[in-house]
Amino acid sequence: MSQKITIGMFQTGGVRPTWKMAGRETDANFTDLDYWTDLAKKCEAAGADFLFLADSYGYPTLNGSIIPTSIERNVQFSTVDAQMLMSAMASVTTSLGLVTTISTTVEKPPIVTRQYRTLDHLTKGRIGWNIVTGSGQAGSALLFGEPLMPHDDRYAKADDHVELSLKYWEGCWESDAFKHDGATGTWADPTKVHEIEHDGPYFSAKGVLVTPPSPQVTPTLFQAGASAPGRALAAKYAEAVFLAAESQALADQISDIKRLAEENGRGRDAVKCLIAGTFRVADTHEQAVADHQAVTESVTLEHAATLYAYFTGIDLLSLDFDKPIPESAANSDNGRTNVERFLGPNAPTVREILTEFRANGVMGKPFLGTAEEAVDQAVALLEETGADGLLVQPESDGSHDVFFEKVMPELRKRGLIKDAPTGTTLREQLFGEGKKLLPDAHPGARFRRG
Ligand SMILES: Cc1cc2nc3c(=O)[nH]c(=O)nc-3n(C[C@H](O)[C@H](O)[C@H](O)COP(=O)(O)O)c2cc1C
Repeated sequence: MSQKITIGMFQTGGVRPTWKMAGRETDANFTDLDYWTDLAKKCEAAGADFLFLADSYGYPTLNGSIIPTSIERNVQFSTVDAQMLMSAMASVTTSLGLVTTISTTVEKPPIVTRQYRTLDHLTKGRIGWNIVTGSGQAGSALLFGEPLMPHDDRYAKADDHVELSLKYWEGCWESDAFKHDGATGTWADPTKVHEIEHDGPYFSAKGVLVTPPSPQVTPTLFQAGASAPGRALAAKYAEAVFLAAESQALADQISDIKRLAEENGRGRDAVKCLIAGTFRVADTHEQAVADHQAVTESVTLEHAATLYAYFTGIDLLSLDFDKPIPESAANSDNGRTNVERFLGPNAPTVREILTEFRANGVMGKPFLGTAEEAVDQAVALLEETGADGLLVQPESDGSHDVFFEKVMPELRKRGLIKDAPTGTTLREQLFGEGKKLLPDAHPGARFRRG
């Protein structure tokens, strides 16, 4: 590989799946602020481009109730609100990008735009929004007392949401509207602050985002959710996309997203495609394999099935283990990425899907072995798929440290990562110095005034 790759670190607002393995009890510190500020400091010191905290209101349900295994084993269950952690993490770092998820199904644009603009100020331009329609949708709908929206309607709502959000961010304040001029008593120029109007299929508004423009104006836009409408949403708005699947599925998703981005006039390089993956690295290959085995054995069949139900609403334990999941599942109103991934001519059986989820969860196979071997595998996958970087999910405090201490130096030695941050904002970190704002080819740019 000749070009530099993007490195994001991935964590949920809860504990990692391996929390119950011996020696990993410290993972349960997720309700301590120090846990998060320490993590942010470590990510920055290691030279990661950003830290992403996943978040969702959803949890695993079947037939209208929470799955007990989810509670007992903490499968996509206990979290804290990731958005609340951001300003604390910003206060102990200076260059690390910080990314959180907000679902367009659940939150409304005035709330989302005000939160991210505030965070963009507090982080001095280092914040990113991961746009999702949301995982665990069945649980989320129950929690909010709302019907589960049909899958493609959720994406139509997401499109409407992002359009209105962009109007608020880009369209309200002209770049020189904020004066803060004590001599003339002018806070802001009323001729340069505009009420935006929006009359969409899901949101209507006439209003002003009252918080003055922040360093990035619009936060760096990420997206996750690789169903067909998810890829279309990414190609329209996202500047970086999180993907997790097998090599061929990843290659197909990436070529589709980049092709659509080009068709949208944004160019193939406007969207960074980042592969989510786990590094299971040890001093010897044998030790890494043994570690992987231990992690796999810590996951029961029920745990794996609960995880799968969370993403898809499908109860694998009720299906014939020797057959693939039925094609009709492709029309599920839950998330589709993890259904579509296991359909088609070479579809695995239910037993194979359960085995895959026990070993690797939603992430695909780990990069496994010594640091050199794991980096070789990661580079091969990046080359096979045309991806632009990695979203790294360490599994425990221990593996975090191993990644920082062994894998990052190996990536650096091979010239694959930057030696120093580029610029001061997250967008510059991804696209280069000076690129603080959305590019002119982005659909948000057309809402700018003045
Ligand atoms: C690496 C990665 C991170 C994700 N992070 C989140 C998240 O934080 N919150 C969430 O609700 N969904 C997240 N998702 C997306 C969901 O898993 C799900 O695919 C999506 O919201 C539903 O869209 P779909 O029907 O296109 O699959 C993530 C996906 C990937 C691959």
